[in-house]
Amino acid sequence: DTFEIAVFVGSLRTGSLTRKLAEALADLAPASLRFKFIEIGDLPFYNPDLDTDTPPASWARLRTDIAAADGVLFVTPEYNRSIPAALKNAIDIASRPYGQSAWNGKPAAVVSGSGGALAGFGANHHLRQMLVVLDMPTMAQPEAYIGHLGDLFDAAGKVKSEDTRAFLRQIATSFAAWVARHAA
Ligand code: FNR
Repeated sequence: DTFEIAVFVGSLRTGSLTRKLAEALADLAPASLRFKFIEIGDLPFYNPDLDTDTPPASWARLRTDIAAADGVLFVTPEYNRSIPAALKNAIDIASRPYGQSAWNGKPAAVVSGSGGALAGFGANHHLRQMLVVLDMPTMAQPEAYIGHLGDLFDAAGKVKSEDTRAFLRQIATSFAAWVARHAA
């Protein structure tokens, strides 16, 4: 079986290291996973007033993309010890209308990264707190906190260290098993 994975990258920045990390994970993942990167930079802030029968087109597209996925991979930097607002906004939008959350039951994994040693631990766990109320079974192990992102990639965007590549492969392989288990 193959599984469609919706990938959410928390950074909107051109040249984002977090995006490179997400691309590396997708590269190293088993062939059973197919990745679709979902763009979140153009989503109007969630406002229930706009959530009528004709919500913003970008909101409708987001919800459809998530509904079509078998699993969700979040790859995020840390902003002030939490997740970036753009990612929070996407999560809020797809969680509504009440009772129609697109996230409901989707198996998930959380990978955080940063330029320093703390590796986005705060963001990682703030995000996990949200996934509880969204009822998304979230892979517990291996935990994925990727530090020193500035040293990770060569000029072509490839992960330089074989040890790091092996760890990313392990994360992706465990996630593939996690998704398969929850699809069954
Ligand atoms: C940051 N950064 C940051 N880093 C960190 O480890 N802990 C933090 O709390 C914060 N806070 C923070 C707030 C804001 C507003 C910005 C813009 C940045 C640094 C940030 O995580 C780092 O630049 C990442 O490398 C960003 O990832 P991208 O954009 O390269 O994917």
